[in-house]
Amino acid sequence: MKRRGFFITLEGIDGTGKSTQFRRLLLHLRKQGYKVRATREPGGTPVGEKVRAILMTEKDDLSALAELALFYAARAQHVEKVIRPALERGELVVSDRFNDCSFVYQGYARGLGTKAVRLFDRVICGPTQPDLTLVLDLDARFALERALDRDAGSGTSRFEAAGLEFQQRARAGYLARARREPERVRVIDASLSMREVQTEIANVVNEVLRGRGQKPEVRS
Ligand code: TYD
Repeated sequence: MKRRGFFITLEGIDGTGKSTQFRRLLLHLRKQGYKVRATREPGGTPVGEKVRAILMTEKDDLSALAELALFYAARAQHVEKVIRPALERGELVVSDRFNDCSFVYQGYARGLGTKAVRLFDRVICGPTQPDLTLVLDLDARFALERALDRDAGSGTSRFEAAGLEFQQRARAGYLARARREPERVRVIDASLSMREVQTEIANVVNEVLRGRGQKPEVRS
């Protein structure tokens, strides 16, 4: 079946305020009458949530390739069961992280290189690529401090524990992707106030949806 919907992904290193902005973006879109399918990675399906649990808690030295393969195993399920059907039904799919995250975290930060990621991506995502990717950009030092404050007491994820240099490489990876594909990947300054960031995201999304002639569907 032909894809009729629109696919937005939200990305950024840990501690950029992404989860808050994700919720606000969903509200904004729903208020305008869009039929929105909200989802997230890692996770997005029952199988994906199980894989997420391994990825977030595995303390043993998980090899970079095993990690990449696990992210893409979860993504295969996510694309097939959730994202592609929703796009075929004409919905607006909004995902908290998707494939750019693997290019950046596994490709750049973990050092696997983008070639390896692209191989997985071609087979698993194929044409199911984001139409618009919003990258919340923030100095890695601030972002890491915020992430650690937020998670104080609940235990840090493996990725936050990877430290400042890792987050710096990930940030550089996102900016490199935005330079390669400036039309699709839009960088949002996350050092502004939460409200300003929210407004900036809403403006970009409105502009892009209008440009693509996406009209809100009236919910039944
Ligand atoms: P999560 O707790 O969901 O963080 P956040 O709320 O910031 O999204 O953890 C997701 C972590 O998984 C995050 O540090 C990035 C990492 N990740 C990858 O390394 N590769 C991927 O492909 C995806 C989807 C996530």
